[in-house]
Parts: sequence; structure tokens; C-alpha cells
Amino acid sequence: MKKPIASLFSAGPAAAWDVLIAFIATAAAIIVPAHVVAGAVLVPRFATYDAVFTVLFLADLLLRWGPAGEAAGFRRTSLRATDLLAALPLELLTGFAPFSLLRLLKLVRVAGLMGRWRYDNLHLWNLLRLVYFVYWLVLGVHWLSCGWFTLRDIPAGEDGLAMYVKALHVTVSLVSTIGYADNYPVNTAERLYAIMAMITGVGTYGYVIGSAATILANIDPSRSGYSERMEKLSAFMNYRGIPLQLQRRVRDYHRYVWEHRLGYDENELLGGLPPSLKADVVLYLKREVIQNVPMFARVGEELLTEIALAMRPVVFMSGDTIFHEGDRAGEMYFISGGQVEVLARDGSRIAALGKGDAFGEMALVLDRPRNATVRALSYCDLYQLDRRIFDEILTRHPEFTEYLQELVDRRDADNRARAKEVVIPGHPLRTEDRTEAPR
Ligand code: CMP
Repeated sequence: MKKPIASLFSAGPAAAWDVLIAFIATAAAIIVPAHVVAGAVLVPRFATYDAVFTVLFLADLLLRWGPAGEAAGFRRTSLRATDLLAALPLELLTGFAPFSLLRLLKLVRVAGLMGRWRYDNLHLWNLLRLVYFVYWLVLGVHWLSCGWFTLRDIPAGEDGLAMYVKALHVTVSLVSTIGYADNYPVNTAERLYAIMAMITGVGTYGYVIGSAATILANIDPSRSGYSERMEKLSAFMNYRGIPLQLQRRVRDYHRYVWEHRLGYDENELLGGLPPSLKADVVLYLKREVIQNVPMFARVGEELLTEIALAMRPVVFMSGDTIFHEGDRAGEMYFISGGQVEVLARDGSRIAALGKGDAFGEMALVLDRPRNATVRALSYCDLYQLDRRIFDEILTRHPEFTEYLQELVDRRDADNRARAKEVVIPGHPLRTEDRTEAPR
């Protein structure tokens, strides 16, 4: 299986290019404002960086917009003004440094990419939400720091980086609303700037707290759903005075279902999918169970899909009787996990069945009541196949009928032999001898 993070960027050259462009656009969003406010004091080799931005952004424009890119597997888009303006070396053309701030328009593309990555990696939804938030916050704080930088004169001989760190310190203090540190605003422009930064900080704060709560609540929806269900259930059982032992069994059952299926109801979750997609997912989920069942070893892909779609998951707890001898039969079962025992009328064990075995087929094939009682020996994950679908499958797939008939005959013969054994005086059936009965 692909590692979650690796799967983010593993879709060929077009995807790798997207990552590169996002990286370069981010670099531009950091370097260009620093250059505009402090020139060579902060960014010594801006001309080189600017040339790299021009080349890569123009290349991106051509790959996205021109036919060459489409041939190389890039998704074609219309020409966007933001991409075009970001790609032009406007400072070089006009000689006016603030024009180079238009490079930041490339972040529109980055925002689009981020959205796509999030939808392509739904399993990382909350993590990416957090990462994106930190990304924009860091950029925002950097821009505010650059703004503060313009308000103070740089003393002669002062290290540009040290000045920037001071500006960053003030900005973080303002945005986090922790105070001014040792840099109080000293004039109207600085005070106005401080007010703006504090308002931004308050908004960010509100967003952080709101988002953090949502992210934490959603980080493991199945666990929070499980806890909520358990709390409701406990309150209900206490209110109705259900005995403690019974309460424990109910809790045990829910824990088992949660641990084995994260509490999700497969059928409900897959219900909204289009039929062909649903068939593929269901087949993937149940293939192991179905192919482990010897009677399905020889069936074709079409029948396998049909069976997978028709099977419903059910759980039985240790000691539960799945059905009694003599019951009318409405379905058969496949064991996906756990163990069951097949019991004769006198309570002796005819067979113990485990993962990959099937039971309950005899009454359906021979159209008669259940010939034995089946009880769960442990928690059992079973798949139930309804009689109607079972009959339909038998009618349409004679090769499957043959195999089923063989199994039924084998079990029937074994039961007859066993019945004879039991009645022979002096040869009582020993239960442990029977546990390896034919499956
Ligand atoms: P059914 O008669 O529908 O219900 C009881 C089930 O127990 C039966 O189908 C078989 O699936 C299973 N069973 C009966 N006899 C045996 C046996 N000898 N070995 C294994 N399973 C059996």
C-alpha cells in the first residue's frame, strides 16, 4: 500500500511540476516583499531570483496553456491574468520595484493546488487543513514584518537580518496579542500599523481556536462517534436499570465492532456509490473472505462480484446461538473471523468451523429446516447471504450448484454415519473426536 504522504506527490511529472511551482511561488512570496522593503540589505542577489521566477513562471504558463504541455500530460487551463502578471519581470521592464509584488499573484495558483491536493488525499484532510493554515499564517506574519520594517529607518551599518528579526519579533507579539515586547510604536504610522496587526491577530486567534476545535473533533471521527454512542448508551442503560452484566455485554459488543470495523456500517457508507464503483469496492473488501471459502475457489469474477454485493456483514458474540436445529432457514453464512460450533440435538459437537468456512447451506439446498444448531464460540464476523439471492445464484450458475451439492452430500453422509455411530451400543460418540468433522 502507498504511504499516505508519498501518495501526495506520486502522480508523474505533471504532479512533480505542480510541487516545484508551489515551492517557487512560496519562495517568491517571501523574497519579493523583503526585496521591495529593504532591497539588497535583506536580499542580496535579487536579480538572479527574479530571473528564476520569470523563467519558471513563464514555463508554467506555457505548459498549462499551450498544446506542448497537454501532450506531456499536463492539465490544460485557460490563460489566467494572475499567472501572466506573476510571470512578467515587471521590475526589470519598468524599473519600479513595487511592481515585482505582482509575483505574489502566483499564490492564486498555489491555493488552487492546495485545494486539489486536499481532495486527492481525503485521508489527510485534517492534517492538510492544519498545514495550509500554518503556511498562510507564516506568510502573513512575514508580510506584516516586512511592513513594519518600512516604518523604521535602518541605522547605518545595521545588519539587515537583525532588523528583520526585530520586525518579526514585533509582528509576532502584535499578531499573537501578547504585547509589544520592547518595540512600542512611536509615531502615528506605527500606531496605525500596530492597530491593524492587532486586529489581524484577533481574527487569526478566533480562527485558530475555532479551527483547532473542529480539527481535533474531526481528527478521528470514528472514535468520537464511538465515544458519543457509548455515552448515550450508558446513560440509557442506567436510566432503564439494565443489569450491570448485561450492560457490560452491550459495551463489549460495541467495542468489538469498533475495533474491527471502526464502527462503520459498510452498507450504509457504500450505499451512495454508483453501482460499478460500489461493486469494485465491495469486491475489494470481501475478496479475501470470499476467496478463502473453498466453495468459491472456482467461481468466476462475475459471480464473485454478485456474491460480494449480496453479502451483509453481521456480528455474533461468544455464546450466541446463530440458529437452532429445526428453524426455518432464510440465509446462509460465511465466516470472516472467529469460530462457531455445529451442535447435534443432544448437544454434542458435530464440528467446529472457522475463518473461510460456510454453514447454513444445507437447509437452503435441500429445502428443509436446519439440521443442527450453530453457536458462536468467540466473537464472530460473518457475512450473511439471503435465501432469495442464494436461489438466484444457484439457478444462474450451475457450476456453483455442483460444488455446493458435493459439500451438502459430504456433510449429510457424515451426519448419517455419525447418527449410526451414536446408536451403536457401547460406541458412544466422543465430542472431541468430532471437532475435525469434514467441512
Ligand atoms: P443447515 O442445515 O442449514 O443448518 C445447520 C448447519 O450446520 C448445516 O446447514 C451445515 O451448514 C452445518 N453442518 C451440518 N452438519 C455438518 C457437518 N457434519 N460438518 C460441518 N457442518 C455441518
